[in-house]
Amino acid sequence: MAEKLARLTIEGSDLSLELPVHSGTLGPDVIDVQKLTSNGIFTYDPGFVSTAACESAITYIDGDKGVLLHRGYPIEQLAEHSDFLEVCYLLLYGELPDADAREKFSNTILHHTMVHEQIISFLKGFRRDAHPMAIMCGLVGALSSFYHDSLDINNERHREITAHRLISKMPTLAAMAYKYSVGQPFVYPRNELSYGGNFLHMMFATPCEEYKVNPVLAKAMDRIFLLHADHEQNASTSTVRLAGSSGANPFACIASGIAALWGPAHGGANEAVLKMLEEIGNEKHIDTFIKRAKDKDDPFRLMGFGHRVYKNFDPRAKVMKQTCDEVLGELGINDPLLRIAKRLEQIALEDEYFVERKLYPNVDFYSGIILKALGIPVEMFTVIFATGRTPGWIAHWHEMISHSYRIGRPRQLYTGPAKRDYPAK
Ligand code: CMC
Repeated sequence: MAEKLARLTIEGSDLSLELPVHSGTLGPDVIDVQKLTSNGIFTYDPGFVSTAACESAITYIDGDKGVLLHRGYPIEQLAEHSDFLEVCYLLLYGELPDADAREKFSNTILHHTMVHEQIISFLKGFRRDAHPMAIMCGLVGALSSFYHDSLDINNERHREITAHRLISKMPTLAAMAYKYSVGQPFVYPRNELSYGGNFLHMMFATPCEEYKVNPVLAKAMDRIFLLHADHEQNASTSTVRLAGSSGANPFACIASGIAALWGPAHGGANEAVLKMLEEIGNEKHIDTFIKRAKDKDDPFRLMGFGHRVYKNFDPRAKVMKQTCDEVLGELGINDPLLRIAKRLEQIALEDEYFVERKLYPNVDFYSGIILKALGIPVEMFTVIFATGRTPGWIAHWHEMISHSYRIGRPRQLYTGPAKRDYPAK
């Protein structure tokens, strides 16, 4: 029973409804509008700006205060004290693992990194210059054809096996997409390496010489994955939930999430930020780009700036900025793009246009500079975001399937022609 009620009356009609108001652990109350439809009325909320599409216990964001919690733990603390695989466990199972569970989970993930050799034939069907995100959509979708043994979404153990498989194999597929684009042989995973270290190994090792994983860079890679691990009901996660609500298999659902992530307003922004910084090229051109970003007749936006929910700062961006300094320091790189980025941030944060609209750097603003310093090509940036986001997508899909749910089926405000007759011939 809801503690509070909202009353809805509509001018000029007899309709008067009492709607339950629910309170979560944190965050604003929500008005439960489920009974509107049986009274012949819907809500209208393009872009889901004011809509809670589901109940969830995984991640909480307070956009005004710049807070991001996974299962209650602040992202800053997780970034400092935890690692990606532990956060995967936390997202999937709801609690931090004890030492045994942690070791067992890490072993499971790190020992299921190989993909079926036939994936190579599938991959070879792509053009050599295919965007790696196109390849990832295809390969992850294709995984559903390899694991008929565990596709029963109503079987909890099947769901768990699939979650492990996806987290284990995403870096392998991502590195294969890269190797294919540069014409190098695929590098098999090494189970003794860390998650981030193994990814760097598969990206950069060649049969010609020994590749030693730099632990500082492996840790930075791990942190990038960790900072992307989940972000509640964003466009790609909502896509995964919507696809999953029809009963589609989890590989197909994650492939749909990858497709939604690809756009420049979402995960594709990290690639767009680096391209933008390269286009700016010099600090003296920053003003021109700021002017363009403010011009309503120019479609240009400052990439890596703004967020639907964060209206103060993006806590992930703060950690990312710090990691950026660490990585560039370790590698002894003095990247002029970092100088441009820092200056751009400073100018934008003082500009009335950005201040008024509460536009701050988001997670994508600094991640590209780190990835570039690690030697990762720009086209791979969003693939890395997808790899990091995979546990979040699966955790949400699993949460939905393990409770009662209905197929997602939004309605519409129809503004097309009223019924009319086909013209007589
Ligand atoms: N540069 C210039 N103006 C902007 C920007 C920007 N990056 N972002 C928003 N605005 C303006 C926008 O023009 C609008 O102005 P007005 O009120 O005068 O019409 C106002 O700010 C509100 O923007 P909106 O488009 O209504 O906001 P939204 O919540 O629908 O969009 C966003 C959020 C992230 C898509 C948008 O800020 C954006 O396009 N940012 C650049 C792309 C980007 O960095 N995306 C990564 C997001 S974080 C990682 C992720 O989620 O994947």
